[in-house]
Amino acid sequence: MNTRRPLGIGLISVGWMGRLHSKAYSSIRYAYPEAQFSPRLVVAADAVQANADYAVDVLGYERSTLDFRQVLADPEVDVVSICAPNFLHREFALAAAAAGKPFWIEKPTGRDASETRDIVDAAAAAGLVTGVGFTYRQAPAIQHAKRLIADGRLGEITNVKVSMLADYSADPLGAHTWRYETARAGSGVLGDLLSHGIDLATQLVAPIGDVTALTQTVITERPKPAGVTVGHVQASADDPKLPVENEDYASMLVKFAGSRAVGFLEASRVAVGPRSDYAIEVFGTNGSLRWSFASMNELEVCLGTDGDTHGYTTVLAGPGDGDYSHFQPGPGIAMGFDDLKTIEAFQFLQSVVTGTQVAPSVGDALAAARVVAAAEASAADGAWHHVESVPATV
Ligand SMILES: NC(=O)c1ccc[n+]([C@@H]2O[C@H](COP(=O)([O-])OP(=O)(O)OC[C@H]3O[C@@H](n4cnc5c(N)ncnc54)[C@H](O)[C@@H]3O)[C@@H](O)[C@H]2O)c1
Repeated sequence: MNTRRPLGIGLISVGWMGRLHSKAYSSIRYAYPEAQFSPRLVVAADAVQANADYAVDVLGYERSTLDFRQVLADPEVDVVSICAPNFLHREFALAAAAAGKPFWIEKPTGRDASETRDIVDAAAAAGLVTGVGFTYRQAPAIQHAKRLIADGRLGEITNVKVSMLADYSADPLGAHTWRYETARAGSGVLGDLLSHGIDLATQLVAPIGDVTALTQTVITERPKPAGVTVGHVQASADDPKLPVENEDYASMLVKFAGSRAVGFLEASRVAVGPRSDYAIEVFGTNGSLRWSFASMNELEVCLGTDGDTHGYTTVLAGPGDGDYSHFQPGPGIAMGFDDLKTIEAFQFLQSVVTGTQVAPSVGDALAAARVVAAAEASAADGAWHHVESVPATV
């Protein structure tokens, strides 16, 4: 019989991601029965009573509170999930570090790169491992792509195309939430969506070294409903309108560091049609591949320039690709977004019990935040901007 070390989970913010982190912790026992730890949902905090109640009534936490400090002070809490809006990331992460609690925090991990840096420094000073919600890198087909590229099967990588196209803000009646305010979100689609794309490109190819970018705000004001909002919700045309303060669309040309590879990355939250189409294409001198979240268990691959095999072949993810075998016994059976969060949860807790950083870290969040900062600077002045590298040890 497996005697697992109990790990007390504290959750700060019971919105969309807070609920999904909780589900992910609860799913570990099914996906990773060999795990040497057993998550126990101890206490959740949310500023809204209805969300705090939801944590107990639906998610299964033993207790809830309106004050995040009570989560960090709770002696039965070993680790913390921070799923708050961006403007609270720094405050909550620094408090978690001061309390000596390892934390799994959502991207973009602060409103800007200086806040992310403070979070990195606090975690390092406290000697803590961390987790960051770079969800898409966990897709088994992406792990397959990473292996092909690392093994040199594509030859030298020449260029990369990333497109993160969503419609979650395409309806002008989509509610004005914290996401549209610079004081509470920081950047718009750059931090919210393109940070994922930056992470994918960095994972598959190399860190981004230089950037030139442009941004655009398409829907310039939105209605603000009274009351609680969770995730993306609708408002009414009668609600008062507030200005949208950050970008709906961003694109950038990039040069990768230490490589001749170049790339084009774009993101939109107002793209009518694609819904949640997050895709990366990587081209090399001897082959290429492309992946899209819309069919996330598939990878299109072309290896070699031989006439008989030229063109894409669809490869279905299967056992051997990332953590696929923890979810399905045979190849080609679709996994979903929530499964990727379960992998994140497992990697975070595995990092905690082994003291070895296996999950995406706040250092990875800093690398993405610095690319976003360079893109914002370029969008403002039209020039190329160099991206300060993040040492591998961070
Ligand atoms: N990894 C991913 O794919 C992914 C997807 C969506 C969101 N996110 C990130 O997750 C974070 C949260 O986004 P969301 O969509 O869950 O937001 P949300 O609006 O659904 O939830 C935010 C929650 O924070 C709570 N909150 C506000 N102030 C608080 C306080 N002082 N103390 C405690 N709780 C407080 C709100 O009441 C709400 O329940 C953001 O940083 C976002 O960028 C990541």
